[in-house]
Amino acid sequence: MAILVTGGSGYIGSHTVVELIDAGYEVIVCDNLSNSSEKSLERVAQITGKKIPFYKADIRDRDAMNAIFDKEEITAVIHFAGLKAVGESVSKPLEYYDNNINGTLVLVDVMAKHGVKNLIFSSSATVYGSPAFIPITEECPKGQCTNPYGWTKSMLEQILSDIQFADKEWNVILLRYFNPIGAHKSGLIGENPNGIPNNLMPYVTQVAVGKRPELGVFGNDYDTHDGTGVRDYIHVVDLAQGHVKALKKIEEKAGLKIYNLGTGNGYSVLDIVKNFEAATGVKIPYAIKPRRPGDIATCYANAELAEKELGWKAQNGILEMCEDAWRWQKNNPNGYDD
Ligand code: NAD
Ligand code: WQD
Repeated sequence: MAILVTGGSGYIGSHTVVELIDAGYEVIVCDNLSNSSEKSLERVAQITGKKIPFYKADIRDRDAMNAIFDKEEITAVIHFAGLKAVGESVSKPLEYYDNNINGTLVLVDVMAKHGVKNLIFSSSATVYGSPAFIPITEECPKGQCTNPYGWTKSMLEQILSDIQFADKEWNVILLRYFNPIGAHKSGLIGENPNGIPNNLMPYVTQVAVGKRPELGVFGNDYDTHDGTGVRDYIHVVDLAQGHVKALKKIEEKAGLKIYNLGTGNGYSVLDIVKNFEAATGVKIPYAIKPRRPGDIATCYANAELAEKELGWKAQNGILEMCEDAWRWQKNNPNGYDD
């Protein structure tokens, strides 16, 4: 009896594997390593004392997926595997639709054929587009995405909902993540972006460690308290624990459920700079740049539904998120290449 974690050697996946093992689950990972290193799972083994069975496989490879489901006794799947670079998705839409949508279709088909109908899916606050209201509840209508990556999440939510509607044996939980940052307290696993980071926190930590000279702040003329974009940053370990709670819900025959995983707090880009400096004592030089296309002013969650129905609430504050992101970056300036 095991949980299959697709994309389990990636950033959120590796942290979730740790929390699953801590909660007593048997875990199997499948990843094509297109955006991660198997070394993350060696580090997970160091943290948990357990070696994680690993399949290097692409979720689009039906034969490989069939072989995993034939061999292992899988009861549920936590599905992280996917491409996630927003800008890249604009220039490579076909790659994103193929990888994320086609990959998920193959995965759920193989699952159904093996009688495994329990799925937790990594969705994103990006499905709200420019949100109709804030704080964003799950009732907030989905919006227009500004890039193919976002559309893959929005479309997959619809596809998985339709599958569950047609066959009530399916239990599907769609988790809409806000902005995951931070790292495991051990400093052994963390976010390991390829090349120039797209996201704020890895950029900040790379400035802090001296890999980049300064942070570019994308716009200071938004309608926010200091003009810079406001987001709901959530510690990746809290996010990972949300998956363990969602798994318990699946075990109670959840049907179709959708939950925001955020903290309910909004921090601006300059708040992040200040908190990072306060948490670490490291100065972050920055320069104001033009707005980044596709960005919205403000996005933060109302996360009460997850608290009510899953018994989950984010525990770590912004200082801990900054401290933990920094510990990981400082100890591993080149990520898993160190
Ligand atoms: P990540 O890139 O670190 O992890 C994704 C993993 O999936 C990688 O290890 C990659 O090698 C693997 N993968 C990609 N395509 C695959 C395929 N076809 N077959 C097998 N493995 C494949 O990203 P992450 O930040 O850990 O994100 C995990 C999931 O959460 C993704 O689906 C992402 O879209 C979603 N998400 C992430 C964020 C975020 O800000 N990090 C926010 C919302 C949603
Ligand atoms: C946060 C804030 C930027 C970098 C993205 C995806 C979303 C989800 C999470 C997957 C914004 C500003 C950033 C920099 C900056 N991923 N910023 N300088 O855009 O909220 O969400 O990741 O689903 O889909 O779009 O996160 O970290 O990129 O940006 O000023 O170098 O930081 O403008 O206000 P975002 P982010």
